[in-house]
Amino acid sequence: MTATVDTQQKAFSEIAREATRAEHEAAENETFIGQLMSGKRSEADYWRLLSQYLPIYAALDEAMDRATESGGSIVERFHDPRFSRTAAIRADFAASGAPIDPPLPVTERYARRILEAEPAALLAHHYLRYLGDLSGGQAIGALVARHYGIPKGQLAMWDFSDIESPKRIKDAYRIQLDTLTDPAQQEEFLAEARAGYLLAGELFNALA
Ligand code: HEM
Repeated sequence: MTATVDTQQKAFSEIAREATRAEHEAAENETFIGQLMSGKRSEADYWRLLSQYLPIYAALDEAMDRATESGGSIVERFHDPRFSRTAAIRADFAASGAPIDPPLPVTERYARRILEAEPAALLAHHYLRYLGDLSGGQAIGALVARHYGIPKGQLAMWDFSDIESPKRIKDAYRIQLDTLTDPAQQEEFLAEARAGYLLAGELFNALA
């Protein structure tokens, strides 16, 4: 009987996707990102967005490093330095010569929230950024290259080819996520994932 119930239970990765679908759609439907991806903005707007991503990803790297160093954290097995986008973003700015804008208030709030997150909440930010980069992010990279003629050498942000194919990384990530079985941690993860989508949407809105 128990076995039947267990097999009918959804994997947490599936629950996470479904429970945050509305928030994902809201972020995806923000005008700024839609316009950027359909060629209605400019190359400068892409660099304005990436300027804001820099402190956000730097906070994520810092928080993940710290959580891993102290040991025993649930985020430990998700930590892969090759995910880190901070160096890639810096390299893209160096290659393009574009200016790095100072952080907007929403960016500062987003970065602070990541730095202050408890493990399950930090994992939610990790999931949001990296599975996002490996999903819609791949389209962002391809479309800004096409619309604004940004060369591949300036788009390291979206290039995870030193790890594996985006699909395989995502599949492996979801399997890891399914091992998060503690209900309190699952709740904390879902609440923070929703908050993360809201912040991502607010950032797009601030850039519009
Ligand atoms: C215009 C903007 C966006 C587009 C076009 C987009 C598109 C997509 C698509 C097509 C998928 C499904 C891929 C798949 O099933 O393998 C996806 C998944 C995902 N996206 Fe986005 N996305 C956008 C914005 C965002 C933002 C702002 C975030 C978070 C900050 C985000 C986070 C995610 C995550 C975490 C997933 C994986 C969901 C899961 O399967 O668990 N996306 N996105």
